[in-house]
Amino acid sequence: MNIHPYVVHFAVALLLAAVALFMVAALGRDRPWSAAVLTAARWNLWLGAPFALASIATGFFDYIAAQCDAEAIAATIIHRRSGAVTWWSSLVAAIAVYRTRHRPPGPRLLAWLVLVGAAAVTVTVLGTRLTYERGLGVDGAWPASAGQCFATERAPPA
Ligand code: HEM
Repeated sequence: MNIHPYVVHFAVALLLAAVALFMVAALGRDRPWSAAVLTAARWNLWLGAPFALASIATGFFDYIAAQCDAEAIAATIIHRRSGAVTWWSSLVAAIAVYRTRHRPPGPRLLAWLVLVGAAAVTVTVLGTRLTYERGLGVDGAWPASAGQCFATERAPPA
């Protein structure tokens, strides 16, 4: 059973919503509604970061069982690296936002949040290609003779 697709959409949606809400709050900084938007942005980020970690765990879980060839393995390696950037950058942002929770984020933190958003979009585009272009984890998409991804990646070169 593939559990990664059940989890990843929460990570992506929460992180992208967080970034968008932080930007809206920054644009409406002096408006009465901006404090409420900022609170929503913080909670989206604080929920999204653990979901990014869960995405990494479930990604490896699915990868171990999926069938692959060398090209699919290379594509997954780029996907999981961008997933790692998403997780680490969202963790740093979540901590920084917590430490500065009594004031709106400054320009450096806002720039960092743009990086989190870019990483989340990148990992999503690359992950979607794994499923819909390569059929990774899709029943019947690979011949029975195809090896399992993780075992093939770890095997010594022939
Ligand atoms: C923040 C971390 C990650 C995010 C947000 C993410 C996101 C995604 C998305 C959006 C898809 C397409 C899902 C769909 O078709 O509905 C996908 C597929 C996939 N990802 Fe990730 N991913 C992450 C990390 C990883 C890691 C670390 C691996 C480990 C190898 C991985 C392996 C896979 C695999 C094998 C698929 C194909 C579908 C499946 O078998 O589950 N992902 N990912």
